[in-house]
Amino acid sequence: MSDDFTHYAQTCRERVDRALDACLLDITEDNPLLSAMRYALLNGGKRVRPLLVYAAARALGRSADATVDQAACALEAIHAYSLVHDDLPAMDDDDLRRGQPTCHIRFGEATAILTGDALQTLAFELLTTLPATAATARLQALRTLTQASGAQGMVLGQAIDLAAVDKTLDLAQLERMHQHKTGALIRASVTIGGLLGDADATQLQALDDYADAIGLAFQVQDDILDVTTETAVLGKQQGADVARNKPTYVALLGLEGARTKADELRDRALNSLRPFDDRADALRQLAQYIVDRGN
Ligand code: IPE
Ligand code: IPE
Ligand code: MG
Ligand code: MG
Ligand code: MG
Repeated sequence: MSDDFTHYAQTCRERVDRALDACLLDITEDNPLLSAMRYALLNGGKRVRPLLVYAAARALGRSADATVDQAACALEAIHAYSLVHDDLPAMDDDDLRRGQPTCHIRFGEATAILTGDALQTLAFELLTTLPATAATARLQALRTLTQASGAQGMVLGQAIDLAAVDKTLDLAQLERMHQHKTGALIRASVTIGGLLGDADATQLQALDDYADAIGLAFQVQDDILDVTTETAVLGKQQGADVARNKPTYVALLGLEGARTKADELRDRALNSLRPFDDRADALRQLAQYIVDRGN
């Protein structure tokens, strides 16, 4: 990673962390729900989806400001909700997340369910109230996120994942699962960043081709890390997919096959960015980061 990108990513992470903290300050009820929301949102995380919002806006020439911060928070809130629910006993039944006990271990299952619910609606509220943004653009952003999150997006991917345990998927079925459970939110992040940068239809299509490739690459690498990386570095239990007989890229293609797949997807993503100038370099570096990351 270049020093420039490392610095850029750090600056974006600090911005979104500050903005996430501020979102929760508006909630004044003293209740375990608020503590659990704070726990799920602010206990680390790589902030990949916020980074994609910032970097896509930047590719169109828009610098980070309060509006981009708020959109980035919305993406992270949906993601944090998806992780809280993904870890529940009825789903992946995981005890460790970002190096800490999962939300339901720390706060109990009922509060964890409510935490996910509240983080989800928080995300939609944040997009509805994007400052200094025309109502049509707010609606477009909202529609992008709702479609990516629900029964045609992430939630569908999770449903396919649950239905596929102990079954053998072919490559096309696996790809469909990954495109929904992880790819959909990644695509929404890039599209929303593009919308905030006033991208035209051609630019939005190019950004979407990029996001489609890195969205899949992200989950291929997640599957690889489950096999290759120890729990202390991963911040979640190593081997959880294997233990639960989950369909993964590594299970289907082997480790080397999965790595080759991730590299091909990165190259496809980089190709899609050819129409953009050097303001898209952060997106280019993110594509590399997604396949190189160690956790
Ligand atoms: C993990 O997401 C779950 C997947 C969608 C694969 P991340 O790897 O982005 O998790 P954090 O936010 O950095 O903890
Ligand atoms: C989770 O996928 C995807 C969503 C939360 C939508 P995984 O189940 O592979 O994520 P990890 O490995 O628990 O982070
Ligand atoms: Mg899962
Ligand atoms: Mg999981
Ligand atoms: Mg995983």
